Amino acid sequence: MAGGVSSQFRAGEIPHPLFYARAEGARLTDVDGNEVLDFTLSQGPMILGHSHPAVLRAVCEAISQGQLYGAQHMAELELAEMLRSLIPCAELVRFSLSGSEAVHAALRVARAYTRRPKFIKFEGHYHGWFDNVSFSINPSRQEPHVSDLLSPARWTQGISAGLESQLLVLPWNDLQRLQAVLERRGSEVAAVIMEPVMCNNGCILPCPGFLEGVREACDRHGVTLIFDEVITGFRISSGGAQKHFDVVPDLAVFGKAMASGFPISALVGKRKIMECMAAGACIHAGTLNAQNACVAAALATLRELLNPEKDLYSKLFRLGKQLCKGLSDAGAASRQRILIQGLGPVFHMGFTDLDKVSNFRDTFKYDTARYREFCLGMRERGVRLIGRGIWYVSAAHTEEDINRCIHAARECLTAPQIPQPARAG
Ligand SMILES: Cc1ncc(COP(=O)(O)O)c(C=O)c1O
Repeated sequence: MAGGVSSQFRAGEIPHPLFYARAEGARLTDVDGNEVLDFTLSQGPMILGHSHPAVLRAVCEAISQGQLYGAQHMAELELAEMLRSLIPCAELVRFSLSGSEAVHAALRVARAYTRRPKFIKFEGHYHGWFDNVSFSINPSRQEPHVSDLLSPARWTQGISAGLESQLLVLPWNDLQRLQAVLERRGSEVAAVIMEPVMCNNGCILPCPGFLEGVREACDRHGVTLIFDEVITGFRISSGGAQKHFDVVPDLAVFGKAMASGFPISALVGKRKIMECMAAGACIHAGTLNAQNACVAAALATLRELLNPEKDLYSKLFRLGKQLCKGLSDAGAASRQRILIQGLGPVFHMGFTDLDKVSNFRDTFKYDTARYREFCLGMRERGVRLIGRGIWYVSAAHTEEDINRCIHAARECLTAPQIPQPARAG
């Protein structure tokens, strides 16, 4: 295993990449038999908790009939219809395996539809690991401004040469700057892509009027607006951020929470754009797309999330709010400045003197070493967290789990801090 992991993000597990043997509900058990209360939810997908019985039952039933027909099946149609009924912009649907692939398809179809070459992405937003979007994800603080644009910063070695020229990078939540760039260069721009909540860096909410302003500017300049809802989709509402904020994009990408850990993603969007794919002029493909187990897992997950008797979205927001308040109070009691931002089912916690973080460059004010130390302390107390500060709440968490986590946080925050070596810069 190169680096011991199958995804680079797993190399960041605290205290180091670990091996697990089983997972159920809100808990995982590692190979040494240690049980941990999970707020990583495997980077978000496990919204119902691990090994949800209804999902496992549906998958077993589906694969007993066949695994992959390499053709259409009725469950796939049922899932597409469900997405259409839930997601405001979903007039037509295509399934892929991962969020990265669906983002790739979204940008391709936007270019095909507009016949324009470039797209706008925002600093600090993550849209998967493919070449064209592997820029300005977590750049160093030195990246300069080039007039009103930011220089695209390569995220990794090995990206094809020249891709920077397809990309315009802007700070998020700055409507005036976006409007000015579209005024000057709108005729070159196929799409604006964004996380409608900047979950991957600080869980930053859109400023009031920002999403509406972007929608209006895209309409004025004939630019396709793409919401990357891989995190927000089915997490902050059954129709994603577009339903929560009541701003409808042209295209949107869903993944993660849609199928409880089974590999399926969806590109959904307006008929007039998606029809470029329907006619075959713009190609999207994949041998394993809409594979039977994944579709069954998605249908079972969505049915569970939508069950009116269970009212799981109210539960996710209630538990999330309780957790945010408990962590905030624990910070205040320990006289440490912690900032919590986001929405209950997904939020970010960090150590900073700022009262608000509104764009990527503000996130440099987080004390990431202190947060790592906090995560280590939580891990020692049986709580598993993501080292980047993002927290996920599942429907399998209980009030007792939340209280247990808050209790562990209070202990950690009052424990003597391990002296850190001085940091440069
Ligand atoms: C907002 C967003 N878009 C796209 C992706 C890529 O999805 P995947 O890891 O399924 O390829 C992620 C993954 O974390 C994400 O957070």
